[in-house]
Amino acid sequence: MSAAASRPLRAAVFASGGGSNFQALLDHEAGLDDSPWTTVLLVTDRACSAQERARARGVAVRVVPVSGRAPAEVADETVSALRDASVDVIFLAGYLRLVPAPVVESWSGRVLNIHPALLPSFGGKGMWGRHVHEAVLQSGTRITGPTVHFVSAAYDEGSILAQWPVPVLDGDTAATLAARVLEAEHRLYPRAAEHLCRAVLAGRPALPLDPPSPHFMSAPEPLSSLQPHNSSP
Ligand code: GRF
Repeated sequence: MSAAASRPLRAAVFASGGGSNFQALLDHEAGLDDSPWTTVLLVTDRACSAQERARARGVAVRVVPVSGRAPAEVADETVSALRDASVDVIFLAGYLRLVPAPVVESWSGRVLNIHPALLPSFGGKGMWGRHVHEAVLQSGTRITGPTVHFVSAAYDEGSILAQWPVPVLDGDTAATLAARVLEAEHRLYPRAAEHLCRAVLAGRPALPLDPPSPHFMSAPEPLSSLQPHNSSP
């Protein structure tokens, strides 16, 4: 891993699927005059649409298959890919595998994930995709929404960096709820990633972010008010 002070940070994104959050990260990075990160690598465990998004932006793609392989072999290959690309920070965006422990250890405090529910509820192994939203609907809760959290050795258990409450509406299905939450994900994740990168570059811890409003309702809403929790005005 390269030194914290180099600018911009070199980012890898891990994805296994459609990659719409990956795209939101790429778009945010491209829209900033002074992006604190440059995406240099997509790591994926399978053929997926995220690879096309990477190629369209000139981002290198590294496929590291996981099925049927020894975990140590996967870990070695993943660490090598990250080191070869001098990666400083890692954003998981729909990566359906457990990140190898050596990656979590070596990039400690620099690996983020986005989960489509308000952790610690509705997280853990098996809680992905529609399963999350089905569990939310079955529980009867009226509030859900994405969580951006640091990655630890266990699924969905690292400390929380940002959340955004999204209402569960009457008549919601897992699909309608997923779409509403995904829209909030696309707006929350890039801001949380930017927040982490600016903190890393400044050599300070990234404080948890407060949501700018109580509920995300799919209306255009400036996020400039997204502030670190307990920050001075
Ligand atoms: C998102 O819902 C994210 O919260 C979860 O996986 C999904 C990925 O979607 N971790 P996409 O591939 O970014 O469209």
